[in-house]
Amino acid sequence: MRQVAHLHFYAKQGSPLLIATGENGIYLASAPSALVGKASHMVRLADGVVGVLEADRPLNLEKLGKLDSVPTDSQQGDKEGFKTYMEKEIYEQGRVLTLLGRLSPKGVSLELPEGFLEGVSCLSICACGTSYHAGLVGKYLIESLAGLKVQVELASEYRYAQPATLKGELFIAISQSGESADTLEALKLAKTLGLKTLGICNTQSSSMGALVDAMLLTHAGLERSVASTKAFASQVLVLWLLALQLANLGGTLEPQEEQAHLQALSTSLDTMQEALKAHTQIKDLSIQIAKRDLKGYFFMGRGVFYPLVLEGALKLKEIAYVHAQGYASAEMKHGPIALADSTLLSTTLLPQNLLFAKNLSNVEELSARDSLIFALSPLEVAPATFYLRTPPYPHYMNEFFYMLVLLQLFALEMAQLKGLDVDKPRNLAKSVTVE
Ligand code: G6P
Repeated sequence: MRQVAHLHFYAKQGSPLLIATGENGIYLASAPSALVGKASHMVRLADGVVGVLEADRPLNLEKLGKLDSVPTDSQQGDKEGFKTYMEKEIYEQGRVLTLLGRLSPKGVSLELPEGFLEGVSCLSICACGTSYHAGLVGKYLIESLAGLKVQVELASEYRYAQPATLKGELFIAISQSGESADTLEALKLAKTLGLKTLGICNTQSSSMGALVDAMLLTHAGLERSVASTKAFASQVLVLWLLALQLANLGGTLEPQEEQAHLQALSTSLDTMQEALKAHTQIKDLSIQIAKRDLKGYFFMGRGVFYPLVLEGALKLKEIAYVHAQGYASAEMKHGPIALADSTLLSTTLLPQNLLFAKNLSNVEELSARDSLIFALSPLEVAPATFYLRTPPYPHYMNEFFYMLVLLQLFALEMAQLKGLDVDKPRNLAKSVTVE
C-alpha cells in the first residue's frame, strides 16, 4: 500500500471553485484574482464535482474541465509605486478604462448578438453593493435617453420577491466579479421566468458569463482593492453606452442632445484624469474635516448624482468606518434633517448642469440647522463650510465623473488619516460568493 503524506479533498456546490496549478503547487480559489502571479491556468469546477488532491501526485487540469488562463497582467497586479491598490485603481481610471471600439464618430455600437435589443420594452437591473449603485445610474440614463422603463433591484431582494415580468423585458445583472451569490441567484430566477438576460461584468470567465444570453465586459482590468472604484466607473460607462444605443434604436433623442452625450462620453476618461489634480485639495480638506468631532456624514445629490452620493457614502463607510449615508437632496426634510447639528457634515454635489438651484436650497436648509456643509460645485455655494470648486464642464456627465473621483479620494484620505488598511477593510470581502 502506498503511503500518502497529505490528502486534500474538495467539493463544489453553489459557490465558485477554481482549481489551478502553478510552480509551487496546486491552488483552490474562489476568484481568479487570488491566482494572479501564482498560477497560469485554471479550471472552473462544475457543481457536484468532488475530488482529492495528493501532495506527491501531479494534477492533470485538463481532465477536470475547460482550461482557462489566469489573468497575467502583472502591471495591474502590483501597486505601481502607490501605497495602496485602492489609490492605484482610482488613479488609473482615466487611463485603463476604455470605450474600445464601442464609440466611433458614427455613434455607439455594442458587441451584442444581432437584434438583441430589438423588441426590448422595459428593463430590470439587479446587482449588489457598488454594482447596484451603477445600476441606479443606468436607470436615470436609460429612462431619460431611451424613454424605456427601468426597474433596479437589489439582487438579494429580487431573488425572494416573486417578481412580476412584462413582455419584452430585458434583465440585466451587473457584477464586477461575476460571482456574487445573490446576483447569480437573481439571474437564474430571471431565466426561469423566461426573461432575456444580459450581463455587465468585469470578469470574462465568471459564473455569470456561463449563465447570461449576452455579455458586455467592462474591461476595467483586475481590481484588487476590496472597495470598488474603477469597476464602478466602467459599469457606468457601459450603461451609458447602452442607454445611447437604445435611444438610437428608438429614435428618442434629438440629434443635438445625442451629440452632447457623445461628446461628453468621449471626454469622460479625460475628465477622470483631470480630477486627480484635485487630490491635494481633497487631502487638505480631509485633514480639516477629520479635526472636527463629527458624528455623522450625509451625502446629498439629485438625479444621477443621487446614486453617486450613495456610492460616495458607501466608500467612506467601507474604509473609514464612520457612519455615512447618501440621500436624495430633497428627502432631507422627510426625516434625516432631524439629525442636523454641528456634528453632522453634509457633503453635497451641486453640478451646474443639473438642478443646481434645487440643491442649493437643500444646502441652505441644512446649514440653517447648523450642519457643516462640504460643497462640490463649479458655482459659488455661500453656506459651504468646506468648498471644492470643480471645473465648469458643459455636460452633467462630465461633472459626474469628476465628482466620482473626488468622492473616492475623499474616502481614501479619511481612511488613511485614521491609519486604516484601505485595501482590506475589516469584515468585508472582495467577492461575496455565499448568501
Ligand atoms: C462586495 C464588495 C463590493 C461589491 C459587491 C458586489 O460586497 O466588497 O465592493 O460592490 O460585493 O460585488 P460584484 O462583484 O457582484 O460587483
